[in-house]
Amino acid sequence: MAKARTTYRCAECGAASPKWQGQCAGCGAWNTLEPARAADLGGYAGEVRGRRLADVDETALHRQSTGLVELDRVLGGGLVPGAVVLIGGDPGIGKSTLLLQAAAAAGDRQTLYVSGEESLAQIALRARRLEVEPAGLTVLAETRVEDIVALAREERPACLVVDSVQTVYSDALPSAPGSVNQLRECTAQLVRLAKANDIAVMLVGHVTKTGSIAGPRVLEHMVDAVLYFENQAGSRYRIVRAVKNRFGAANELGVFVMTEQGMREVKNPSAIFLSRYPEPVAGSVITAVHQGSRPLLVEIQALTDRTGGGSPRRLAVGLDQNRMALLLAALHRHGGVATYDEDVFLNVVGGVKIAETAADLAALLATVSSLHVEPVPASVLVFGEVGLAGEIRPVAWGEERLREAAKLGFTAAIAPRANLPRTPISGLSCHGVATLGEALTVMRQLAAGEAG
Ligand code: TYD
Ligand code: MG
Repeated sequence: MAKARTTYRCAECGAASPKWQGQCAGCGAWNTLEPARAADLGGYAGEVRGRRLADVDETALHRQSTGLVELDRVLGGGLVPGAVVLIGGDPGIGKSTLLLQAAAAAGDRQTLYVSGEESLAQIALRARRLEVEPAGLTVLAETRVEDIVALAREERPACLVVDSVQTVYSDALPSAPGSVNQLRECTAQLVRLAKANDIAVMLVGHVTKTGSIAGPRVLEHMVDAVLYFENQAGSRYRIVRAVKNRFGAANELGVFVMTEQGMREVKNPSAIFLSRYPEPVAGSVITAVHQGSRPLLVEIQALTDRTGGGSPRRLAVGLDQNRMALLLAALHRHGGVATYDEDVFLNVVGGVKIAETAADLAALLATVSSLHVEPVPASVLVFGEVGLAGEIRPVAWGEERLREAAKLGFTAAIAPRANLPRTPISGLSCHGVATLGEALTVMRQLAAGEAG
C-alpha cells in the first residue's frame, strides 16, 4: 500500500505546503505549519464505484420541516437528511436561541444538541425562558469531535447541532480549537458523519472581525448550505440569509424578531422595513428588492447636506458605495442634478443589504427628493436599474415587485417601461419610464398631485 503523502498546512491561513518550513509562504507567519492528514485534504469519499445517474434514487433527499416556517424557507423548504448547514453570525445575535427553538418545534424528531460554549444548565435555563419543552432533544456538553461523531453514530439523531464549530477539536491535530486546520478537520469529520448516516448537521460558526466565518472562508465550500444572520445595530429584527444552498435558492431571506420569548417569525416582512410617517418626508423612497424567492419592500433614505469644504462625502449603508458614485455621476450628466458640492448619505432602513441594481432608481430619486426638499408620496413604489447613458433598464421579477406593492396598499409605481405588466394590476397605476429625465418628471408630477 502506498504511504499516505504528508503535506503541511498553516494553522493560521490554511495554505498547503509540500514540505515543512519555518515560515508559511501564504501568510508569512512563523512556526505555524503542521502535518495535515491526507483525508483532511479531500472531501467526502463514500462509494468507490460510479453509478448511472438515472439509477440514483433522489427521493432519499426527503425534506423535513425544521418546525419554523421562516427557517424552512431559507433552507429551501426544510432540512435535507445528510445535509450540512453552516449558520454564521455575530455573537449574541441569536443563533443558539433559534436552533434551540427549532429543536423544540420539531416535536418528536430526534435532535442531538452539542454545546461547546454553554453548560447543560445554561441550555436548560434558556429552554425554560423560551417556555419550550423539546421532547426529542438530547443535549451534550462536549468539544472533542471524535466523541461527538461516535455518539451521533450510536444515537442516530435526525439532526445534529454543533454549537459552535470553533470550540470543537480533533486529537489528530496539535493546533488549538478554532484554528483553520482544526476547523477544517472537524468539519470534514462531521461532513463524513452526515453523509454516511443521513444525519442533518447544523454547525454554528462565529463570524470573525473580517466578516467571514473562520477567516478565509475555509468552511463555506465544505458544507451544503451557508446561512448568515444579519441585523443592524440596535434593531430587534434578524435577517437570516442563505448565501449558498445546494438544495435551494441562494439569497433567500427569512426574517425574525428577537423578543422576550426568543425569536419570533415575521410573517409579512415587507411591512416592517417601511417606516410610516404621518406626513411624507423628503429623502425617503420605497423600493422593491427581490431576495431569493420573494420580493421585499424596503425604504431607502437619502440625506444631502452642503459640503463644508474639501471633497464631498459619499456614504452608503446597505448599498454599494462604488455604485452610488456611479449613479450620482449619471444623475448629473443625464438628469441635470449636480451633487458635487453636496455630501450624500444613503441608508437602507432595517439593516437590509441590497445587492441588486433594481434599487438604483430609488436611491437616485431619494437623493433628488432630499436635495430639493420635495417628498415622494409614501404610496409610490420605485425600482429600476440606471444605466450610464441615463437609461432606465428593466430588472428581473418586475411584475412580482409590482404585485407585492399593490398587496401592501401602494397606489402608484415608477418602474422601467419594459417591466410594465401586460394586464393592469388593480389599484396600482404604473408609470413606465425609459430615461432618468422621464423618471424625474413623473416623480415631480406625483409629488405635485399629492400636494395639490
Ligand atoms: P444567543 O442565541 O445566545 O446568541 P448567539 O448564540 O448567536 O451568540 O442570543 C443571546 C441574546 O439574545 C442575548 O443578548 C439575549 C437575547 N435573548 C432575548 O432577547 N430573548 C430570549 O428569549 C433569549 C433566549 C435571548
Ligand atoms: Mg450561542
